[in-house]
Amino acid sequence: MIKIKRIGILTGGGDCPGLNAVIRAVTKTAMYDHGMEVYGIEDGWKGLIENKIKKLEDEDVSSILTVGGTILGSCNRSNAEQHVTYDDQGNRSVSDVTDRCLKHIAEHGLDALVVIGGDGTMSGAANFVKHGVNCIGVPKTIDNDLMQTDVTFGHATAVMVATEALDRVHSTAASHHRAMIVEVMGRNAGWIALHAGIASGSDVILLPEIPYDIAKICEHVTKRSKHRKRYTVLCVSEGARAVGGGQVVAGHDKDMPDPVRLGGVGNVIALEIEANTGIQARTTVLGYTQRGGTPVAEDRLLATKFGHAAVRLLKAGERNRLVVMQGGKVRDVDILSVVNQQRMVPLDNELILAGRSLDTCFGD
Ligand code: F6P
Repeated sequence: MIKIKRIGILTGGGDCPGLNAVIRAVTKTAMYDHGMEVYGIEDGWKGLIENKIKKLEDEDVSSILTVGGTILGSCNRSNAEQHVTYDDQGNRSVSDVTDRCLKHIAEHGLDALVVIGGDGTMSGAANFVKHGVNCIGVPKTIDNDLMQTDVTFGHATAVMVATEALDRVHSTAASHHRAMIVEVMGRNAGWIALHAGIASGSDVILLPEIPYDIAKICEHVTKRSKHRKRYTVLCVSEGARAVGGGQVVAGHDKDMPDPVRLGGVGNVIALEIEANTGIQARTTVLGYTQRGGTPVAEDRLLATKFGHAAVRLLKAGERNRLVVMQGGKVRDVDILSVVNQQRMVPLDNELILAGRSLDTCFGD
């Protein structure tokens, strides 16, 4: 068993609240409990490619528990196996720079990497595992869609932000007798929409997992305006799509592992509601407010547990594990077992069942 003396740590992919709490937990546990050194790698895999690596001291990680974002920076474009560069003429070329990264790991004497990220970051880790680098993963994403773990840190904060926004639009929807749509993030999984939608008592909740029929939504909006409250609050996941239709795409970025950027379905639905019911509809797209700012206490606790567990795994001589939460307990699984997969909301999720009993419309 190799005695771990030096750890490299990086945060990859889209940021989320709680990343700093993990960095703090990893660094302090490693330094104080086990006498290890921790080296921060800037901007995810990009910092490993460019050799932007520096030792973290206590003062670097103190007072960051409550701070959103990541002190290390992040990047959702870099991938050592498919490193994209552009020459002066704008010509794009793709090359494998894994060897360069391995050289940087050796140069800094890193015995293992703690990799904090989602599916894309763990795919990057899989490449280094293949080359003999011990990678311990810590799952993050506001989307809560990573396989093997019941929850990822960052999700609770995003749900809190979305719930507050939905709560706030209730009163203005009531004043103007409108249909008020709040479009939330989540990519192809509806966890944020489901959790914030139910928590806020939204009347319509649209998830990517349940394709919607606009006629059913309009029927619900009309029913409410005639017989019940004269307004409707709709919580719509950015990945929601009509039966037989596709997702609404805001743009493409060919240099990202997932080149499709979702966004705009809220406006599409608003236009259809107005055209079909005559009721005014307005849309609020929450966007990156869900990813920013201080993490809620639940995310700080989860991030601290995960960071602590990651170092304990290294101390115990474990290799290539991913820290997860299963059934309320911190456990670990093979880091490769989550690559290229997404955890969707199952259709028999108890909150979907509860919502249906409460006359929430899921668009089907
Ligand atoms: O995966 C987190 C997430 O915020 C998604 O909910 C959203 O679709 C996506 O990232 C946005 O990514 P980007 O930062 O590349 O715009």
